[in-house]
Amino acid sequence: MDDLIVSMEHVYKSFPGVKALDDVHFELRSGEVMALLGENGAGKSTLVKILSGVYARDSGHMEIFGREQGDLTPKQAQELGVAIIHQELNMCRHLSVAENMFLGREKTRLGTLSNREMEAEASTILRDLKIDLDPRKVVGELPVSKQQMVEIAKALSTNARVLIMDEPTSSLTSREIEDLFRIIRELKNKGCGIVYISHRLEELQYIVDRVTIMRDGQFIASMNYQDTTMDEIISLMVGREIREQFPRVSCKKGKSVFEVKHLNAGHLVRDVGFQLHEGEIVGFAGLMGAGRTETTRAIFGVDPKTSGEINLDGRTVKIHKVADAIRAGIVLAPEDRKKDGLCTKLSIRHNIALPNLDTLCDKAGIVRRARETRMCEHAVNSLMIKTPSVDMDVATLSGGNQQKVVVAKWLARNSRVVMFDEPTRGIDVAAKVEIYHLMNKLKQQGIAVMFVSSEMSEIMGIADRIIVMCDGRITGEMTAAQATQEKILTLATRFDKKVATANE
Ligand SMILES: Nc1ncnc2c1ncn2[C@@H]1O[C@H](COP(=O)(O)OP(=O)(O)OP(=O)(O)O)[C@@H](O)[C@H]1O
Ligand SMILES: [Mg+2]
Repeated sequence: MDDLIVSMEHVYKSFPGVKALDDVHFELRSGEVMALLGENGAGKSTLVKILSGVYARDSGHMEIFGREQGDLTPKQAQELGVAIIHQELNMCRHLSVAENMFLGREKTRLGTLSNREMEAEASTILRDLKIDLDPRKVVGELPVSKQQMVEIAKALSTNARVLIMDEPTSSLTSREIEDLFRIIRELKNKGCGIVYISHRLEELQYIVDRVTIMRDGQFIASMNYQDTTMDEIISLMVGREIREQFPRVSCKKGKSVFEVKHLNAGHLVRDVGFQLHEGEIVGFAGLMGAGRTETTRAIFGVDPKTSGEINLDGRTVKIHKVADAIRAGIVLAPEDRKKDGLCTKLSIRHNIALPNLDTLCDKAGIVRRARETRMCEHAVNSLMIKTPSVDMDVATLSGGNQQKVVVAKWLARNSRVVMFDEPTRGIDVAAKVEIYHLMNKLKQQGIAVMFVSSEMSEIMGIADRIIVMCDGRITGEMTAAQATQEKILTLATRFDKKVATANE
């Protein structure tokens, strides 16, 4: 089974001020998983959006199942058997799981929507995929990882023969990732061709047959995964050698800056207590749903606290709302950037300026434009945000570059405590290193830094101290030197009952 099912040649696509695709070449055979790799802004999403009918190309050829195709609409692409799981979740948050899965191809009976039929079919699809989810649940109330699973189920329910996955695992738990890989292998055996886009390079080994590498909108190489090495892939993607994937700077651990005592909030933050010191980065490890995100949200004042105390530089601070936290110098770069982290309808400039207006305005409350420009350009340059200007809408940025804007807005102010929730999600290897440098820089300035991450290598590579959570509680902590993957996983799965039996 290695017939060519997609062939794209000399594809060009420009957006105002950006050559997103510049003579790109891409091939996919049936029964293979083709990884499409490249840095943030390399043009990966643009290419697959052309294949799936979201964008029209400026010029170039595209053959699907041996037939030359003009510009497709998403519906035509779907009818041809091309399905795409988009990088940015595109769900109707107020609709149910089943309604989302059948969006645009709703089942009707006698002219009215047949919810029961859709729910039954959705339920079968979810069960086949071994996804534990009620099809009647409203999507907006699900955690990001479940929303992602809905998107995957939706794509699979169309019986696609070309399946495009743009960063499908960026917010899945390790168990869900295993499920996804199992599904991918099954589809492969059925002769499906899969385009797989991911910045988690370590997962390629489990599923990938071939790789196509892009850089700056250009095709760089295509080869069998077997015939290459990770170092080669990275240097082709980045165009240079990356010396250290996890740069560590050592600092002297100083005094305690920040202390959380007996924090309770909702049912996923239970008696949480910890300290952060000057000169260290603390990583929060755990499985998805362990309560790490909820802990950061409760501290930051997004969610209400039931009880607990927060001390900053030895003084108790009362945080009832986000503004209280920001004023005290405690900030959070959240996990769900589209919902919480960015105003996608605003420019990069305004996204960065918005939380910093207090430092940007003069006494009359008028924004000092030059200072604002300086602040934004500095942030864009130091994080290497790929954009022609700070006045571009953040919606036009590639996924990874959007993430950098979330981080950038907090860079600009003098904070005492910076909390990052999955800061490198969807970010390319080189930009990840930039974010680590940034965290290191904050650490060197004596700022208390904590981050939540589901990537074990990142937790072990960057954190000086690791706190593990499970089921809303802190189950253990260790220094980087003491840490092993096994130790972290054991603590991450130490549920209440297990603790009880171990103590008996
Ligand atoms: N709708 C748009 N309007 C303007 N520019 C766009 C638009 N979509 C993409 N671009 C630009 O095209 C370039 C390629 O973006 P694309 O989203 O394809 O990158 P990517 O390889 O998917 O990156 P990432 O890994 O960050 O998702 C980027 O410079 C991006 O800013
Ligand atoms: Mg993309």
